[in-house]
Amino acid sequence: MNHSLGIMTLTPQVANSYFLEIAKQSLSYPIDLYLFSPKGISPLHETVDGYYFNKESQTWETEAFEIPEYIYDRTYYQKDIQSRQAKAVVQWLKNQKHIRFLGYGLPNKWHLYEKLKKTPLSPYLPETYLVTDENHLLNLLTEYKDIIIKPVDGAHGYAVYHLVISKQGIVVRTTKKQGIMEQSFPNKEIFLKWLNRILQKHTFICQKRLLNLTKEDAPFDLRILLNKDAYGDWREFQRAIRIGEEKGILTNISRGASYRSYSDWKALQDSSWDFIEEELTDILKEMPLILEEQFSSLFEIGVDLIIAEDRSLWILDMNSKPGHKIVDELCPEKLSSLFQAPLDYCDFMASQCLSSLKRGDF
Ligand SMILES: Nc1ncnc2c1ncn2[C@@H]1O[C@H](COP(=O)(O)OP(=O)(O)OP(=O)(O)O)[C@@H](O)[C@H]1O
Ligand SMILES: [Mg+2]
Repeated sequence: MNHSLGIMTLTPQVANSYFLEIAKQSLSYPIDLYLFSPKGISPLHETVDGYYFNKESQTWETEAFEIPEYIYDRTYYQKDIQSRQAKAVVQWLKNQKHIRFLGYGLPNKWHLYEKLKKTPLSPYLPETYLVTDENHLLNLLTEYKDIIIKPVDGAHGYAVYHLVISKQGIVVRTTKKQGIMEQSFPNKEIFLKWLNRILQKHTFICQKRLLNLTKEDAPFDLRILLNKDAYGDWREFQRAIRIGEEKGILTNISRGASYRSYSDWKALQDSSWDFIEEELTDILKEMPLILEEQFSSLFEIGVDLIIAEDRSLWILDMNSKPGHKIVDELCPEKLSSLFQAPLDYCDFMASQCLSSLKRGDF
């Protein structure tokens, strides 16, 4: 009997190429594939209005169906009421014992930090503070002089501010559609007023700004995509360098940064890099296991690491719903394997379930 796997996203689009490619790969799996939104679920009847992938016509077709046994969660939430409702439905779904998620996601940046601070990853985490009020932040800025603040639940570089204190006063920089916006504050009072307004919009964390600039003064970082293979084991799927805009703050691809081949970049480094690379490989081997132990099971992770000027490595961010463009850009020959990964892992989960059934664990 076929298993059922549902790809879940806030607004399902039949034209989404990642989902369509997974669907095409599903032809050779004993898996019925669905695409739906948490908004389409009726918890009362445990049914969903969404799409079913017709393997004959190879198209998504509108359909009403039972909630699939396995769920690949690709939901990105916004701040609106619809998102809040969807989040509640997904929480309910996660508590349903007969439904399994490929990955159960990670908490916000602050909870992540608090928990990981007590693990062997701790030396790689930049010291992070939860901003309580404007005076707290002013104290942090006075102490560190050059800081970054970002929302605890931020994504895609949204509302990331760079704050610097100098003799001339306080300068705040952030990235808007038009580019970097810069504002100077001649005195503390006006700055505190501005801060108060910003802090009302989001809950922020604060870190010292790590110096991750290229010779051209562009910020860069290392992005690594980890996922599970057909045996449920973690593997590094793709590694890349991301380079942001000159004089910019962000290295998010959605904010104009671009991918560079890791090996091209490595070829420009001196031999001391080999040593750091070993350390990096160790971190990446341990990280997914630590995350799963501290939180819950995961299927894929996008890791951002900053290599500072003094060659120290810093884990900046871990994302349980990473993008996949990194593979399109740097290694198109691995694309079919990328699209098979959620199906392979679903298959693996189903076989695990069966073997424990046979053992009588259930
Ligand atoms: N402490 C820091 N020092 C230097 N640059 C930073 C620092 N924190 C963030 N940045 C820059 O800002 C970018 C965005 O930060 P971060 O990855 O923490 O949040 P996000 O990208 O908005 O969230 P997500 O990755 O979950 O979508 C980083 O990729 C990095 O380029
Ligand atoms: Mg990020």
